[in-house]
Amino acid sequence: MAITTAYRARSDALPLRSFKTKGRHSAIAGMGVYAPEKVVTNFDLERVMETSDKWITERTGIRKRHFAEPGTTTLELATKAASSALDAAGITAADLDMILVGTSSPDGPFPSIACRIQDELNAPGAVAWDMLAACTSFIYALSTADSYIATERADNVLVIGAEVLSRMLDYSNRGTAVIFGDGAGAAVLKPAPDGAGFLSWCLGSDGRGYEQVTCGNKQVGAYAAKEPNPIIDMQGPDVFKFAVDIFIRQAHEVADAAEIAMDEIDLWVPHQANFRIIDAAARRIGLPLDKVAVNIDEYGNTSSASIPLALEEAVRKGRVKKGDNVLLAGFGSGLTWGATLLKWI
Ligand code: UT7
Repeated sequence: MAITTAYRARSDALPLRSFKTKGRHSAIAGMGVYAPEKVVTNFDLERVMETSDKWITERTGIRKRHFAEPGTTTLELATKAASSALDAAGITAADLDMILVGTSSPDGPFPSIACRIQDELNAPGAVAWDMLAACTSFIYALSTADSYIATERADNVLVIGAEVLSRMLDYSNRGTAVIFGDGAGAAVLKPAPDGAGFLSWCLGSDGRGYEQVTCGNKQVGAYAAKEPNPIIDMQGPDVFKFAVDIFIRQAHEVADAAEIAMDEIDLWVPHQANFRIIDAAARRIGLPLDKVAVNIDEYGNTSSASIPLALEEAVRKGRVKKGDNVLLAGFGSGLTWGATLLKWI
């Protein structure tokens, strides 16, 4: 099929699927994060490409991002975040039944990063695989982990979102090179009492929008010989509109499914793609910004790592307490989307 037709469907024409959690509940028992030490500011980018700190800050809210040094693997970032999450949850790798890694920037087609982490952490026997739903990968992986715990096929699950996107950037593409960054975040899920932990979900995909955000697809065949890495490409303004709409609709879907009113949500942790997307959606959902976790200024868009990076920071800063209703929501290439309402334990 030719990759030429622009994606026109707006998310309000999409049927959304939402579910109240059934079976045994699960919750986040501990989290860990890792970002590479190297910080690249907007001013650093001004020196290598045609852009400005003013444009990036005003149009995206990003001031800096962390870039892995050349040769650093996604596995290294993921393993550091995973080790911290195990410590925070008070379990060892031997306790793990399952390891799920959401990533769009694996170090190679196979073996999976999940299996490599399994080796690094010494957790043989756990079922382990990688999941690709672009920036929604962490929510998709959480929902899979929750399903295994709900059906009593697993007790302790390690979920990781990890990316080294800096190796997929082309500094002649202003719409993407200034946006993305590297990082990793991890969560350990364990069984939770009924009425606590993950309460509801809304997940979906619309492949008609596959050309909205791509990496490699458009260069199939010819590209491989020319470039060492696939390069991210994006139809930014179209994705912006989709993102605002889907954030709003998902928030209502998961709140309704969990029978929680919008003003009972204590914290919204959105995928950190653009501060203007978050701000526009928060206003229309009716959430004041003091109930929204935002750290895009520090990390940029780290795709599958962005939600755990923002959630862990909010937890560490004391913005989440037991019993709080926390809304996690993402969207990304595919197109994909996913949200969940979580009562913190
Ligand atoms: O997680 C993956 C999903 N992706 C997203 O969520 C991205 C959603 N989209 C966005 O965040 C925004 O669309 C962008 C940040 C990518 C772009 O912002 P925008 O406000 O939509 O800008 P635009 O693409 O409409 O471009 C506006 C102007 C253009 O100049 P002219 O034609 O008006 O003269 C661009 O050439 O801004 C120019 N421009 C830049 N200028 C300086 C675009 N990128 C840059 C840049 N620096 N980096």
